[in-house]
Amino acid sequence: MRVYGPQYLEFKQNGDERGHLVVCESNGTDIPFDIKRIFYIYGSKSDVVRGKHANRNSEFVLINVHGTSKVKVMDGKGNEIVFNLNRPHTGLYIPKMVWKEMYDFSEDSVLLCLSSEHYNPDEYIRDYNRFVEIVNR
Ligand code: TYD
Repeated sequence: MRVYGPQYLEFKQNGDERGHLVVCESNGTDIPFDIKRIFYIYGSKSDVVRGKHANRNSEFVLINVHGTSKVKVMDGKGNEIVFNLNRPHTGLYIPKMVWKEMYDFSEDSVLLCLSSEHYNPDEYIRDYNRFVEIVNR
């Protein structure tokens, strides 16, 4: 499975009368990288903006497993896209070196984040001007 730019990933809903079960397996079918880290974000107020960083190495898949949020991605070259996360069986793939901002969280939002890398604060670019400088040089 090869994906390049930021894009939605649709996961199979294994649903029956008992409810739904969604599988995100990094075996080349669901998630385009080996998952090394999982974290989740909840309890963010609707006026909060999270993220505001780019990662030199980490790729992500974001899934609102409950509730909703929006994710704005920017390439630092003038292009931006807003993705609506509002389905527990839809993920958003974010490649490395993309500026991202998560916002408009519903009160019940639980945003699950899968990452290709272990946490390393040194690979985070948290200054937007610096990010623009790096991608345009
Ligand atoms: P932060 O990167 O500011 O979150 P967001 O991207 O949602 O704005 O992370 C919040 C805090 O959690 C910060 O102190 C760093 C810490 N953290 C870890 O220790 N490990 C992780 O994998 C992540 C994503 C964050």
